[in-house]
Amino acid sequence: MQITPSILNADFAALGAEVARIPSADWIHVDVMDNHFVPNLTFGPTMVEAISRSTSVPLDAHLMIENADREAPAYVEAGCGSVTFHVEATKAPVRLAREIRAKGARASMALKPATPIEPYEDMLAELDMVLLMTVEPGFGGQKFLDLVLPKIRRARSMMDKHGVETWLQVDGGVSLETIERCAEAGADVFVAGSAVYSADDPDAMVNALRDKAVSASDA
Ligand code: DX5
Ligand code: ZN
Repeated sequence: MQITPSILNADFAALGAEVARIPSADWIHVDVMDNHFVPNLTFGPTMVEAISRSTSVPLDAHLMIENADREAPAYVEAGCGSVTFHVEATKAPVRLAREIRAKGARASMALKPATPIEPYEDMLAELDMVLLMTVEPGFGGQKFLDLVLPKIRRARSMMDKHGVETWLQVDGGVSLETIERCAEAGADVFVAGSAVYSADDPDAMVNALRDKAVSASDA
């Protein structure tokens, strides 16, 4: 059970200090947005590289960008340990996953809430992680979409059936209220943005979220 706080709702004028507030994070989730794939604009590779240099916690880049086939490898070069592309923005997901792995990062594929997982069952072994969005991508602080829970369950059973080591990440509206539902459904990596950065003690929130996820998955 891993917690990957998103810095989307952190103070962008002090990102180095904001990342230093969450030493218990397993990964730092960096939401890259290009104002085309989603109606919001955040970081590019130069800034991601600067964040990477400021922390020893590995970076988990979530690319909400068009032209992922062309742009994603730059985020491995920028120092990310995991790079997630959206299947809706990728022309050749198998080739891209192989390229990310060949460059030395974990390869991950994201699906928006209405994108089905079934067409990708046979490529699970090509992926180190699948990200199921539990909000429409673009902004932090949105309400968790319960309608994604059955897809989380189906993804988990597919992974079990194929015996793959692929991690299953959820992103959007994850909080102390909603994390148990995700863990029970089979998620094992949890992005939380506003829940962590609106807490008085963000690092304590990271640990509280992980504890809830662990007890829900043991139950
Ligand atoms: C949304 C981003 C998320 C977002 C999560 O498009 O991918 O990572 O920052 O923020 P919360 O946890 O506030 O929904
Ligand atoms: Zn994200």
